[in-house]
Amino acid sequence: GGVITIDPGYKNTGSCESGITFLDGEKGILRYRGYAIEELAEKADFLEVAYLLIFGELPNKEQLDKFHADIKEQAIVDEEVKKILDGFPKAAHPMGVLSSLTSALTSFNPSSVDVDSEEAMYNAIVKILGKFPVLVAWTMRKKKGLPLDYGDDSLGYVENIMKMMFKRPNQEYVQNNIIVNAIDKLLILHADHEQNCSTSTVRIVGSSHAGLFASISAGISALWGPLHGGANQAVLEMLEAIKEDGGDTKKYMAKAKDKSDPFRLMGFGHRVYKNFDPRAKIIKVAADEVLGDLGVEDPILDIAKGLEKEALEDQYFVDRKLYPNVDFYSGIIYRAMGIPVEMFTVMFALGRLPGWIAQWREMRLRKEPIGRPRQVYIGENYRPFKEISNR
Ligand code: CMC
Repeated sequence: GGVITIDPGYKNTGSCESGITFLDGEKGILRYRGYAIEELAEKADFLEVAYLLIFGELPNKEQLDKFHADIKEQAIVDEEVKKILDGFPKAAHPMGVLSSLTSALTSFNPSSVDVDSEEAMYNAIVKILGKFPVLVAWTMRKKKGLPLDYGDDSLGYVENIMKMMFKRPNQEYVQNNIIVNAIDKLLILHADHEQNCSTSTVRIVGSSHAGLFASISAGISALWGPLHGGANQAVLEMLEAIKEDGGDTKKYMAKAKDKSDPFRLMGFGHRVYKNFDPRAKIIKVAADEVLGDLGVEDPILDIAKGLEKEALEDQYFVDRKLYPNVDFYSGIIYRAMGIPVEMFTVMFALGRLPGWIAQWREMRLRKEPIGRPRQVYIGENYRPFKEISNR
């Protein structure tokens, strides 16, 4: 072969052509299939956006109804999955549990791996869209010690997810529209982000023709890390630590700038956005609205705003073009809704699911070759084997 160029972290390497998400990091533009994220967050619902990402166009009423009906048909998981869930310690992190359960779905739906026809591909897609919310709800309910239950077909996709998560066995479930609308918006804002770490993972695992569920399971593992989706949990823990420590934001700013200290300001910085993250702008406004509507006062919202203001005026952050990202304010909203902090990254995964599916489908339909990066070897030259007695 020719000369191999190394690009650590793939900062300048395109891995594919894609028609799904447009992102301009300098201008802070994000569009799904040509539609601005701001408009979609305002006017569309999450299931419409899922359809748009996966199939390329906004669905008409009939298409959306059929899509939803097909998903509902699949919104159960094999009862045996409960035994797997039971095997996990209660303290297990929900992202690890969710990745395992998603992977396990293949064993109960082996035909989902063979996606050589468009119809088979569609079946695998509605299966995961139906079953994943059940796994998400169960993961949280298991942690809280609540009974595992199924959803309610009469509800919308997101309404049903909220009911599955929050319904208590001894109470009538009353839907809170403030929560449903805010979650809908958050899920839309997380739904795709072109070739980020977890999406690239889904594509590369899928490129070996491993099944959709195995590919998504790998994507969940990638999302878990604190430099990626795990940042939303890390942000809240950081804000909480600052509060406990007396609210001294300056001290944490100094830590973040100190190169001998591994601490980073979580929820700040982005590989691609260098002016602002358009998702963060919308989520900041939503945080104010939702907390106001729910009547929740949370001192960490003020700490977050203070931290943002200081960072935006600080030379270190200005020089490096570090702005709040999607994870900076989302956790404050989740917390106000009563979602446990360890579930925050799971909520991100729930939102990102349609993006992962869309990118996997595009990759398969374009018959892309197996992903197989090269390297430059820097290890030992040939040396003769050394017997154990001589080592
Ligand atoms: N706090 C302090 N310094 C930072 C931060 C931060 N949050 N982010 C970047 N820097 C510094 C970094 O030390 C480096 O400085 P220098 O040039 O002096 O060595 C410079 O800014 C460039 O950073 P980088 O690590 O080379 O940039 P990257 O593109 O490889 O990493 C990032 C991007 C998002 C991983 C990084 O900004 C980060 O770790 N942020 C905190 C974690 C976070 O919020 N992640 C969520 C990302 S948004 C969506 C998602 O995936 O969930």
